[in-house]
Amino acid sequence: MQNIYDNKVFFKEYEEMRSKDINANKLIEQPIFNSMLPMLRGKRILDLGCGTGEFCRLAKSEGASFVMGIDCSKNMLNVAKNCNDGITYLNLPMENLGKLNDKFDIVTSSLAFHYVEDFDKLIGDISKLLISGGELIFSQEHPVATAFKSPKNERIDNKIDIHGKRYYLLSDYNNIGKRVVKWNVSGVIKYHRNFSEIINTLIRHGFIITKVMESYADEEAIKKEPKYAYQNDRPYFLFISAKKS
Ligand SMILES: C[S@@+](CC[C@H](N)C(=O)[O-])C[C@H]1O[C@@H](n2cnc3c(N)ncnc32)[C@H](O)[C@@H]1O
Repeated sequence: MQNIYDNKVFFKEYEEMRSKDINANKLIEQPIFNSMLPMLRGKRILDLGCGTGEFCRLAKSEGASFVMGIDCSKNMLNVAKNCNDGITYLNLPMENLGKLNDKFDIVTSSLAFHYVEDFDKLIGDISKLLISGGELIFSQEHPVATAFKSPKNERIDNKIDIHGKRYYLLSDYNNIGKRVVKWNVSGVIKYHRNFSEIINTLIRHGFIITKVMESYADEEAIKKEPKYAYQNDRPYFLFISAKKS
C-alpha cells in the first residue's frame, strides 16, 4: 500500500489545492456526494479515507450519534484531529478494516477507493461492518478517467481539440489494475477498475445498488471555473450508493 499523502511535497501541493475556493472537491464532488446521503441524524457512521475530516465534521453537525474516520495518512489525520469535536479518528489503512469490530449504519468514502488494490476484499470487509440494511455511499475517480495508461507512467496530455471541440483519448478501459501517474509528484499509484467490475463486486457481496451518479458541473461551477464544462465530455468522478441486503 502506498501512503502518498505522507509525502512532504505531495501533501503541500494537495493542501494548497484544497485550501482554494475553486477546486473540484468543493464545486463538483461534495455537492453531488452530499445529495446522495441518507439522513445522518442518530446514525453510526464510518468514513474511509477520511482525510482532514471534512465529511466527519459534517456528519457530526448533522446529528450522527457516532462518527469514526480512518485514514492511512498521519499528515491528513493531524489536520483532522486539530478540529476534533467528538469524532474518533484512527490511523488505519482500508486494507486492515478487518481489525474493526464495531457495527455501523452508514459507511462513506470520498475519492479514496481508487487507491485500494483489492476491491473485492474492501467491499467484503465493509459488508461485515454494516448492519443489515446499512448503506454504503462512495465516490471515486471515474473509470473513464482512471483507464488511461501511459507507457512512461506519466500524466501525458490525453486531450485534443478539433474544430474547437474537445475530445479525450481513452485507452486500456478493460485492462483493470495498477496505474502510475504524475499528480503533484511522480509515481502516484492508483487502481483502475471498469464499471462492471465495480458494480458486480458490490452485487457479489450482497449489496443492492440504490443510486449511481457521474460528475457534471452546474452553471454556477462553470461560471467559477469554465474548464469544468468539459465534464460533459468526460466526467471526473463516479458516485454509488448501495444498501446491504
Ligand atoms: C483525495 S483524499 C480524500 C480525503 C477526504 N475523503 C475528502 O474527500 O476530503 C484521499 C484520502 O484517502 C486516503 N487513503 C488513500 N489510500 C488509503 C488506504 N489504503 N487506506 C486508508 N486511507 C487511504 C489518503 O490518505 C487521503 O486522505
